[in-house]
Amino acid sequence: MAAGKGTRLNSKRPKVLHEVGGRALLLHVIAAAKTLVPAKEIYCIVGHGAERVRAAVATTGVSFVPQPDQRGTGHAMQVLKVWLELSGAPLPKHLLVLSGDVPLIRPETLSALCELHLKERAAMSILTAVPENPTGYGRVLRLTAGQPEVLAIVEQKALTPAQLATREINSGIYCFETAALFSKLDLLCTDNAHGELYLTDVAALLVADGQRVVALQAESVDEVLGANTIAEVMHLDATMRAANARRLMAQGVTIYRPDTCVIDAEVSIGPDTVIEPYVQLLGATRIGSECRIRSYSVIQHSVLGNCVIVRNGCILDRAEVGDGAVLGPYAHLRPESRIGEMAHVGNFCETKKVTLGRGSKANHLTYLGDAVIGSGVNVGAGVITCNYDGAKKHTTTIGDGVFVGSDCTLVAPVSIGDGAYVGAGSCITHPVPAGALAIGRGRQVTKEGWVAARRAARAAARDADQSGTQSPAQTSEKKK
Ligand code: UD1
Ligand code: CA
Repeated sequence: MAAGKGTRLNSKRPKVLHEVGGRALLLHVIAAAKTLVPAKEIYCIVGHGAERVRAAVATTGVSFVPQPDQRGTGHAMQVLKVWLELSGAPLPKHLLVLSGDVPLIRPETLSALCELHLKERAAMSILTAVPENPTGYGRVLRLTAGQPEVLAIVEQKALTPAQLATREINSGIYCFETAALFSKLDLLCTDNAHGELYLTDVAALLVADGQRVVALQAESVDEVLGANTIAEVMHLDATMRAANARRLMAQGVTIYRPDTCVIDAEVSIGPDTVIEPYVQLLGATRIGSECRIRSYSVIQHSVLGNCVIVRNGCILDRAEVGDGAVLGPYAHLRPESRIGEMAHVGNFCETKKVTLGRGSKANHLTYLGDAVIGSGVNVGAGVITCNYDGAKKHTTTIGDGVFVGSDCTLVAPVSIGDGAYVGAGSCITHPVPAGALAIGRGRQVTKEGWVAARRAARAAARDADQSGTQSPAQTSEKKK
């Protein structure tokens, strides 16, 4: 069920697309479902922001069932019923119903619910939990404490003062015998605080009919918590990230102050890598072993080899970094930066769409964009590839073992052959052949004794001024 608006979030984004662990709520739920059944047997009920929701989860391969007007969780099931019946396919004997806003659910727990459901031959099996504060959730009333049989689910606003003390909550996750569920959907009514069709009312309807409704309490409360407000989404995010950090640490990763780091669910890190405080590792980032990621670095969708050092304050986006490379402090690697093994990209360097060969170094204040740079190259401080002519991007090609002196501008398209030298301060506009020295700068002019001569001329001018006459030097200065 992923059609709801999420009114309590006060957000334009559909609720199920809010993220925990860097991934949409709904994607977590689908991932859990996919551990039990193939994607084609997963029906995703979409309504509010349906196009956005479909687009965000399209790659999972699930089917979509439209619920254009969202009249409650019971209505969502009515819509599913009609859709399945019209599809002409044989009805599944059992349905596992998940809420799109309960993202931390573990596959093991879902399996346990399904097992109980089959073992108890139940018409409906409800996953529950007993949190410290159950406020806001529907409560599950059991026939006898400690026994699986359930009498009813009562929504928060309908609780009697006596029922308020019940702490066992409905997680919004159920197993149904399909025929039993479908037989009760037309009996649902909107006579409740929200004027909606509640799926939860099916429990009492089945019980009244003498059918078996049971509950299973989840092992951990965290995995059944819902996300109805931004604060709840952020709580789940912190819970998931903390669990994720514990998993990584169990795999041999050292994470100092994990509470200060933002590590997305998909990130993988090799053993003996050290993550310092205040690091963000986002998206599908993969980091090898024995790396060190120093504080205040933000790395997203990037792949780092082994023994890479990322010094403080680096920003990496869709970059690839080879084994033993050293980055930063304050390096900015933009998309398609491919930094070779043992290469260095140092202070205040920016790279974009660049291949930097093995062992090459660009250590200070450099912009390298649209460039193919060989191995063993020294890129001096302040070198700039001038890749953009105002309309198009052009490529700079630098061979192996090239030395580019400090403060050069390389005006692309341009190439520098293997082993060539470029003198500091050059503006290179023509190809430099292999092994050549290129210098492209104004020739230095040296005027020996100029400073003393100038001082003397000034002193003479002052003397003349004080005595009321003008020196020739002063006259010429004024003309200038
Ligand atoms: C629901 C349960 C409540 C339970 C809680 C657990 C009902 C009536 N109440 O309340 O007992 O404790 O979940 O998290 O079911 N949805 C649709 N179509 C709709 C309405 C909702 O697809 O017409 C989807 C929502 O997108 C959401 C899920 O169903 O993913 C649950 O809906 P929500 O409105 O969040 O229900 P709660 O008030 O949390
Ligand atoms: Ca909810």
